[in-house]
Amino acid sequence: MHPLVIAPSILSADFARLGEEVRAIEAAGADWIHVDVMDGHFVPNITIGPAVVAALRAHTKLPFDVHLMIAPCDPYLGAFAEAGADLIAIHVEAGPHLHRSLQAIRGLGKKAGVVLNPATPAASVKHVLDLIDLVLVMSVNPGFGGQAFIASAVDKVAELKTMIGERPIRIEVDGGINPETAALVAAAGADTLVAGSAVFKGGPDHYAANISAIRAGA
Ligand code: DX5
Ligand code: ZN
Repeated sequence: MHPLVIAPSILSADFARLGEEVRAIEAAGADWIHVDVMDGHFVPNITIGPAVVAALRAHTKLPFDVHLMIAPCDPYLGAFAEAGADLIAIHVEAGPHLHRSLQAIRGLGKKAGVVLNPATPAASVKHVLDLIDLVLVMSVNPGFGGQAFIASAVDKVAELKTMIGERPIRIEVDGGINPETAALVAAAGADTLVAGSAVFKGGPDHYAANISAIRAGA
């Protein structure tokens, strides 16, 4: 079992004060910073690009967990690596060649992750297990923060846990994570939890307590 990682999603932060927000969640006990990159094409929302990741890099020493919701992803892998991503996760559907894209991420010297949408089966990662450091199980449809947790993610986490066995691959869950849902996915084998609205609710004075509550739930 890997030590539990809490990765707040800055999608729920105040975008006008992102540098301060990143510093605040680091001080509040976050382990990684989860960065949701959306292109308005693969998902119905547009967020941030490599320039913002690069600007944030000076504000924290925490690893940047960059979740790309863009297709095609290949033309932008280098830019996010250069901007300071530590791990780059791509969707199975962001292809056309998942294996090649993962090789490219590793070739850039970064950790590689594969993201499974709610309807994407666990078996999609079976033939790329040697190329990944993390599997990200979406427990909402990607595109927006604040959505309700989709319970079928719990069984998918358990299935992945068995498939991964002793390999050094983290299982991350993203979407609708709060202390209660954290407990469900952690019991199934998740070791890395993304949370947006549950971390940022109430403003900076509440970040530490919000993160602690998710950690305690898991
Ligand atoms: C959704 C993003 C998530 C989202 C999580 O597409 O990948 O990271 O920000 O937000 P909450 O925790 O509010 O569901
Ligand atoms: Zn995400």
